[in-house]
Amino acid sequence: MIVARSAEEVRAAVAGPVAFVPTMGALHEGHASLIRIAAGYGGTVVVSDFVNPTQFGPHEDFERYPRDLDGDAAIAAAAGADVLYAPEVAEVYPEGFATTVDPGPLADQLCGRSRPGHFAGVATVVVRLYGLVRPTRAVFGRKDYQQLVLMQRVARDLALGVEVVPAPTIREADGLAMSSRNRYLDADERRLAARVPAALRAAAEAYADGARDADGLLAAPDLEGLELEYLELRAADLGPHDPDRAAVLLIACRVGATRLIDNVVLDPAHPDRAALELAAKEPA
Ligand code: PAJ
Repeated sequence: MIVARSAEEVRAAVAGPVAFVPTMGALHEGHASLIRIAAGYGGTVVVSDFVNPTQFGPHEDFERYPRDLDGDAAIAAAAGADVLYAPEVAEVYPEGFATTVDPGPLADQLCGRSRPGHFAGVATVVVRLYGLVRPTRAVFGRKDYQQLVLMQRVARDLALGVEVVPAPTIREADGLAMSSRNRYLDADERRLAARVPAALRAAAEAYADGARDADGLLAAPDLEGLELEYLELRAADLGPHDPDRAAVLLIACRVGATRLIDNVVLDPAHPDRAALELAAKEPA
């Protein structure tokens, strides 16, 4: 694997179709699983490692977001990446850069309510990275469900010729979705954070037992100690919930100063699947 600092170096290393995994670094097993999926397509796997300033709000964690290029290179290489692309800000946003990709009204809902401008920042950087890296596929995690749906929409609406591939959420043994931000949690907060997947699991079990509406699914979530931002049931495409179609339950909350998001897809064709996916594993 090579570590490229410029798009020119990336393109020089490419042979065949590119499967692209955009990341902000601080790589963990969740990112590694995306890289393995990208490697399954057989072309060149490019992973970007760029903490994008334009998707952070003024009071968010841009400055303290964890950065570890050597650690990232080791994880990306082991997972099958061919190129780790770690550009400077000046390459991604050169002097005079003025275009913004506005992904439409969904960008103002769910996470967009508390993070104005966040999804325009994501969409803009991802489209810019597509231009620099020229992928035919891009792999996104379901962990960031709204981001995934928005990036599918942007690819379709702008006819970018990039197939957006969804990847499953990778979790810790107690169910907590892996996230670069989990390292901000102290031991007490870490214990409380496990209530997030536990609440989703309770809903998934109710779904397996036949509940289909918000009242039945959200009967008793134990979210004590968490500052809830939203807990919403939507259709899988993030339109209004329809009890006869696949749904997604999405949660965002704060534990102390750390913001956590998670979700579970509830599919009437496989009513037990979500509860099985969220079942606590034996600690390793
Ligand atoms: P980042 O948070 O680094 O995530 C990069 C990719 O990894 C995203 O597609 C995200 O959904 C996925 N991911 C993170 N944790 C995961 C987990 N536990 N299981 C499966 N996939 C997981 O998302 C971003 O960066 C940025 O917004 C980006 C798209 C790179 C634009 O700057």
